Amino acid sequence: MKKIPFILANWKLNGNLLLIKQTLIRLNKERNFLKKLKIAIAPPIIYLSEAQKYIYDNKNIYLAAQNVDAHISGPFTGEISAYMLQEFGIKYVIIGHAERRQFHYEDYKVITKKFLILKQYNLIPVLCIGELYKDYANKEIRNICIKQINPILDVLGIESFKRTIIAYEPIWAIGTGKTPSPEYIQNAHLCIRSYLSQYDDSIAKNVVLQYGGSVNANNVLKILLQSDVDGILLGKSSIHLNEFLSILRIVSNFL
Ligand code: 13P
Repeated sequence: MKKIPFILANWKLNGNLLLIKQTLIRLNKERNFLKKLKIAIAPPIIYLSEAQKYIYDNKNIYLAAQNVDAHISGPFTGEISAYMLQEFGIKYVIIGHAERRQFHYEDYKVITKKFLILKQYNLIPVLCIGELYKDYANKEIRNICIKQINPILDVLGIESFKRTIIAYEPIWAIGTGKTPSPEYIQNAHLCIRSYLSQYDDSIAKNVVLQYGGSVNANNVLKILLQSDVDGILLGKSSIHLNEFLSILRIVSNFL
C-alpha cells in the first residue's frame, strides 16, 4: 500500500501574517476532510511562531522550516538553529533546495552538516535533489541524484535515511510551469529508491519521496498516482490559498 500522501507547502519568500493565519484556519476547518493527508506548511521563519498558535492536536497538520544553520549556536548573524526550530515544535526542515544551492552557494559539505544537525535534534530533513535541464536532456538523472545523495550516505550512512524525506525537484521545473511527464517522475523516484535499497531495502521502502516543480491542481493527481511518488513539494501554488486548498481537496477526494 502507498504511504499517506505528504504535501509540503514551501512558501519561499512569500506570504504575510494574514495568509499564515487564514491558511491554518482553513486547514483546521477542513481537517476532517483532509485527514487522509499529511500536510506541512513552511512559511518564512518569522511566521512560524504565529503559525504555531493554530496547530492544535492535529495529527496531520505540521509546520516546517525552509532552512537551518549548520551550527547550533555562535557568531552566525542571521541564522536559525535546529535547537530553536525544535523549541518551536517544528517537525520538518527543507535542506539542499536548488535555490539555496544556487543563490546561497550551499555545497554538499554544508548540506551534509545541516542533515547531521537535524538528525541530532530529531528533526526530519527534507533533502532536495534534482538535475539541470541539460542533464535531463542527457538522461543523467540517475547520476545526478546519486551524486547529491552520496555525500550524506558516505558520511552518515544509510541509517541516516530513516525518518527522512527526499524531494526530487528538477531544477528546470521549479517555478517554470514545466514538469517532466509522470512516467519520467516515476522513473526518477524508482532510481532513487533502488539506489538506496542496495544499502538497505527496508529503509529504501520507507523513505518518503516527494516530487516538486510546477505542481498545480491540474497535474497533481497524475503525479501522485505514480507508485514511487509519496508526496508533493509545492511552491507557487501553495501561496494562493484557494489553489492550495483545491489541490488538497483533489488529492483527498481521490483517496
Ligand atoms: P514551484 O511549485 O513554484 O515550481 O516550486 C517548487 C519548489 O521549489 C518547492 O520547493
